[in-house]
Amino acid sequence: MQIFGVDIGGSGIKGAPVDLDRGDLAQERHKVLTPHPATPKDVADCVAEVVGHFDWSGPVGITFPGVVTDGVTRTAANVDKGWVDHDARTLLGEKLGLPVTVLNDADAAGIAEMAFGAGRGRKGTVIMLTLGTGIGSAVFIDGQLVPNTELGHLELGGHEAEKHASTKAKEDEELSWHHWAHRVQKYLEHLEMLFTPELFILGGGVSRKADKFLPLIEHVRAEMVPAELQNNAGIVGAAMAAAGK
Ligand code: BGC
Repeated sequence: MQIFGVDIGGSGIKGAPVDLDRGDLAQERHKVLTPHPATPKDVADCVAEVVGHFDWSGPVGITFPGVVTDGVTRTAANVDKGWVDHDARTLLGEKLGLPVTVLNDADAAGIAEMAFGAGRGRKGTVIMLTLGTGIGSAVFIDGQLVPNTELGHLELGGHEAEKHASTKAKEDEELSWHHWAHRVQKYLEHLEMLFTPELFILGGGVSRKADKFLPLIEHVRAEMVPAELQNNAGIVGAAMAAAGK
């Protein structure tokens, strides 16, 4: 079975039909640049362009980089504030003329990793983190998602975690791998103190360079692994959510 997945990110909006049996894209994805400012109307136009690139009629799952409850976007840390308390499901559904499901981007990536990637078959508490412009989180208990956990906004040592330990912070402050890994370690230790997870799955573009920083992280008892689906986790997870998985 195929469902369409769209991932709204800080730099790109990308999507493709997803093969839900394989947990992979059924066709090569199409990507457009995220407009700045990323207002609801402009983003909806981009989503329509991505979906319109394919001959698609059917349900569409869409990720959003903020809290989403019942199709309404509630926060907008790294996108235009016009998304706060916006009925995204109605906006995007009317724009596309198709049934849509909207969910948090990290939750979508986590759903895909748990089914087809690094979290396959894992029980207990699993925390997936996406390290990028912000830090997204998806918490699973025996495979069941606890949505909208927003652990990137925890405060620690006087800093908001995502301002201090995201890959954007690494780039903006030109941190060495060593220095950045130390910040990620402090963050993981804090999460471990709160949740005692079995497993941390580290995602976002930087997961491709896991060999550069994972070996530098010590004092974390839980197993730590890089995400496996990398760039497509959000698209796959969005489609899974739209299929009710
Ligand atoms: C947002 C989260 C999102 C994360 C990654 C954070 O700033 O609050 O909802 O998952 O960035 O995009």
